[in-house]
Amino acid sequence: MAGTWNSADKFNREASQWDENPQRRAVALGVAQAIIEAVNPGKTMRALEFGCGTGLVSLEIAQFVKTLSAIDTSPEMLAVLEEKISRSGITNIETSCTNLSASSETTLKEKRFELIYSSMTLHHIDDTAAFLNRLADLLSPGGIVALADLDLEDGLFHDDPLEKVHHGFDRAELAALLNGAGLLVTSFETIYTFNKTNRAGITAAYPVFLVTATKNQPVTQE
Ligand SMILES: C[S@@+](CC[C@H](N)C(=O)[O-])C[C@H]1O[C@@H](n2cnc3c(N)ncnc32)[C@H](O)[C@@H]1O
Repeated sequence: MAGTWNSADKFNREASQWDENPQRRAVALGVAQAIIEAVNPGKTMRALEFGCGTGLVSLEIAQFVKTLSAIDTSPEMLAVLEEKISRSGITNIETSCTNLSASSETTLKEKRFELIYSSMTLHHIDDTAAFLNRLADLLSPGGIVALADLDLEDGLFHDDPLEKVHHGFDRAELAALLNGAGLLVTSFETIYTFNKTNRAGITAAYPVFLVTATKNQPVTQE
């Protein structure tokens, strides 16, 4: 993981303008549609989004699931989402300021989910392997993870070179990490491409994948 810092401060500062960026809205919509197509979420599902931000993805998904836990480490991003929830009348989203990658985090300890998803958040999490194990623990048997993030990139996607992020993911390596966490990869597809002028001033294409994986059902003995 490159860079020296990752903190909620950046997202707190950006929260009030977050939704004004059309590419952010477009990728979130693309991710939500791809999750709905790949997972076919149902009204019995308890869903979790980590790194929900202002809820651009979860506000699209909520109507298809029973309950939705939307967690983030930035109180300001969550405040924007909470405002949108109260205006929309949606009643099945519960928000929480939670850092799922912190080993001391126990808020969700007793909870289990049939669906866990994220958009553009995995690259902010330091130890991918440990984090995927954590997700696997939170999944109920047969549960699904759906993760959207950048393919391996040139390291110029983020504007601040010191921001501590993964420069996207190699698909084969991420599939192996999911496998190592006991999750069976069921699909890997390109669902969006950012066309972005990077910090070198070059307009480049940055594809975004969605990977889905399931936690095996325990084998039942007759
Ligand atoms: C690039 S933004 C994406 C936000 C949202 N998913 C979207 O598509 O608009 C990444 C989000 O992940 C949150 N985040 C970063 N690290 C996190 C962690 N360890 N646990 C939960 N959220 C985290 C940030 O606060 C931020 O809101």
